Amino acid sequence: MKSRKEEILETIPQKGFFGHPPGLLTLFSIEFWERFSYYGMRAVLLFYIYYETTKGGLGLDKTTAASIMSIYGAMVYMSTILGGWLADRILGSRSTIIYGGILIALGHLALSIPGSVTALFVSMALIILGSGILKPNLSSIVGDLYSKEDYRRDAGFSIFYTGANAGALLAPLIVGTIGQTYNFHLGFAIAAVGMLVGLIWYAITSRKTLGEAGRYVPNPISPAEKGKLIRWFSIAGIAILLVLGITIATGVMTIDVFTGVISVLGIIIPITYFLVMYNSKKTTADEKSRLLAYIPLFITAMMFWAIQEQGSTIFAQIADSQTKLDFGWLHIQSSWFQSINPFYIVFLAPLFALAWTKLGKRQPTTPVKFAIGVILAGLSFLLMVVPFVLGGGHQINPMWLVFSFLIVTLGELFLSPVGASATTKLAPAAFASQTMSVWYLSNASAQAINAQLVKYYSIDTQVTYFMIIGTLSVIIGIVLWIFSKKIHQFMRGVD
Ligand code: GLN
Ligand code: ALA
Repeated sequence: MKSRKEEILETIPQKGFFGHPPGLLTLFSIEFWERFSYYGMRAVLLFYIYYETTKGGLGLDKTTAASIMSIYGAMVYMSTILGGWLADRILGSRSTIIYGGILIALGHLALSIPGSVTALFVSMALIILGSGILKPNLSSIVGDLYSKEDYRRDAGFSIFYTGANAGALLAPLIVGTIGQTYNFHLGFAIAAVGMLVGLIWYAITSRKTLGEAGRYVPNPISPAEKGKLIRWFSIAGIAILLVLGITIATGVMTIDVFTGVISVLGIIIPITYFLVMYNSKKTTADEKSRLLAYIPLFITAMMFWAIQEQGSTIFAQIADSQTKLDFGWLHIQSSWFQSINPFYIVFLAPLFALAWTKLGKRQPTTPVKFAIGVILAGLSFLLMVVPFVLGGGHQINPMWLVFSFLIVTLGELFLSPVGASATTKLAPAAFASQTMSVWYLSNASAQAINAQLVKYYSIDTQVTYFMIIGTLSVIIGIVLWIFSKKIHQFMRGVD
């Protein structure tokens, strides 16, 4: 008897896009546009929040701006839990993606109208929900395009990852340039248009290219559960609104307090997740061992993302205020620095994929790759100590940033694609629909912690800041490397 997955696979055209299913092009394109809108928005948002009102900004202070950016990122990745659940139990991936795309486009639109801090928060809420429910479902349909044994599978994920980064590469150059030189709101409007283009393209092409993938609800809720859920959701919704309403009205809920709450959630959510998976009756002994192996990998990934994600907060600030941007006729926009990381990814990811294929069994194990990734991240921070110690208050040469981004991005190539695939292999089968969310949680928690960490950054503290965080990251990498054999044993047969 054929399994459900096999039946679905037969409905999906298998060739037509460089030897890959044409569905991959559909998913590549929507991921491209979604990341275009997300990273375009992020490339200018920090500046929009802290630039003075006379320069078209909101005029908040830099530390608050960096904190808001981090909390925002954390919540986007936290809400992937909701996305996995919605698809698994109520909507199926295909419909969830459509709703997600609409929410994202509305979110960017909310910022395209000149407004206040309130408009910013409305937009954030829409994009948090939208990206959270769209992103994990796109990745999971990529997985549905191939059978488990299909040798094209890893390459498929790698091409998809390149799509995300191609969008992230182009966005700062377009949205950033227009946002910074002309008008922030026009920049956000372009992000909205990008998302809409992607969504329309997806709606048109997916019918032909994706077959039945993502059309069914794997684990539908029963009518009895439905009643219970509606009750719980209503109670929780009203409770949250009440608490928010009262605390905001009485002035208790400041941006600082809210940030603190999310930071705490960044710790509590992964711990709860692990406990639930570990104690579930459906988790077998081998799976428990793999979960234990996953804990140090998760912590390492958190450290890695904590550094990588500061590229759009602390490094963006440095690019804007402490870097030489004028070279004769050429004026570099500070938002362009956000294109550097995805640029390296787009060009180096294929080389890495090739290297892993060539090395075959001789390639390093997952824990060793993670160790290398986080050590490189640490070194990218340590490098930044040099220009600030030598510079004595002068504007630094942009090449320092270009090199620092190169080092952290090399780390990303060791850790990120491997991490996503390791998560799918290490997560217990009963929690398969949530594996992508588990992986994104490492980024969510990292940014939740960043929201506190960035408060210690200032021009006066930056040397110590980079030194401490960089060293900690290198130490975590070395410790992981030392224990890598042991961890690999706990992975029970997974590479
Ligand atoms: N830059 C990656 C993306 O946007 C980050 C994903 C992750 O945290 N795994 O897809
Ligand atoms: N490198 C970032 C991500 O993979 C942009 O999408």
